Amino acid sequence: MKFVGKHILSVSEFDRAAIERVFAVADQMEPYAQRKKATRVLEGAILGSMFFEPSTRTRVSFGCAFNLLGGEVRETTELKATSIAKGESFYDTARVLSGYSDVIVMRHQIEGSVAEFSEASRVPVINGGDGANEHPSQALLDLYTIRKELAAKNKSIDGLSISLIGDLRFGRAVHSLCKLLSLFKHIQFNLISPPELSLPDEYIAAMRDAGHNVNQSTELQPNISSADILYVTRTQEERFPNQEEANKYKGLFRLNQAVYTQFCEPNTVIMHPLPRDSREAANELDNDLNENPNLAIFRQTDNGVTIRMALFALILDVVDQVDAHAKPVNWYTAKRF
Ligand code: CP
Repeated sequence: MKFVGKHILSVSEFDRAAIERVFAVADQMEPYAQRKKATRVLEGAILGSMFFEPSTRTRVSFGCAFNLLGGEVRETTELKATSIAKGESFYDTARVLSGYSDVIVMRHQIEGSVAEFSEASRVPVINGGDGANEHPSQALLDLYTIRKELAAKNKSIDGLSISLIGDLRFGRAVHSLCKLLSLFKHIQFNLISPPELSLPDEYIAAMRDAGHNVNQSTELQPNISSADILYVTRTQEERFPNQEEANKYKGLFRLNQAVYTQFCEPNTVIMHPLPRDSREAANELDNDLNENPNLAIFRQTDNGVTIRMALFALILDVVDQVDAHAKPVNWYTAKRF
């Protein structure tokens, strides 16, 4: 896979070699992401950041990643604040904004919308999440986190047992992660969801065709005991026809310290793409796990910056120049990594 000047729309574009390339560059970016060094390699470059659905992590971490490489960010965060609200087409919007930016990241609620936008863009476009379809950079940072968490336990991704829990139908992070994991060997997938929110059949068929073992269940406890990773997700209420329908599925699966202690192996890693829904009716990942050392959710979010820096460095072809533009960090940096 070639990265320079390319869109990143789906993880289907990746093979094992491409993943390893991203991870190797991410390892190179880590000292910059962790403020041990600074670089200005993208000085003068502009990221067009267009998030037409709510976002905290993806929007801000893409922006931080670009800033940490020395570039600047121009943000649009609401559809109604753009001329799309006045009837302007994606085509025209893409032609215009790609004249202002060197690379664009976009989130939109309609599946396939980012791909449609990219067809008219004159610069590379990264999919920051398109409806219930895909979230490629989230899957890459999740896989990078899985690799690091397993390496600390002398394990590798091949042979992994993972339990994916919650809304697997609308969860785009799960969709992209299942595709990426399918590139590895002998994965045990435990899919835990209500029947109405099960992983779409085409994903399961592809996972089985790739030789993986897929177990589907509607019960949490019996299906988490042998997992290396628990990947908990939120009910994607914004994809339901109304709130009442979404509410039916909230709170069905709740992971807390008591459940973890009783049913999981002591080293089981807990992940979640976030946001977790901490309201009482949902609370799929309880705050009483916050001090559990196996809770990896904030290591995931930190890794989001590292992975997104790697994607920019690869797409804009500056991997070999990053270190040449390195400088010491001359401001106070809290010990948060
Ligand atoms: N994981 C994720 O996409 O989070 P945000 O919606 O906050 O970007």
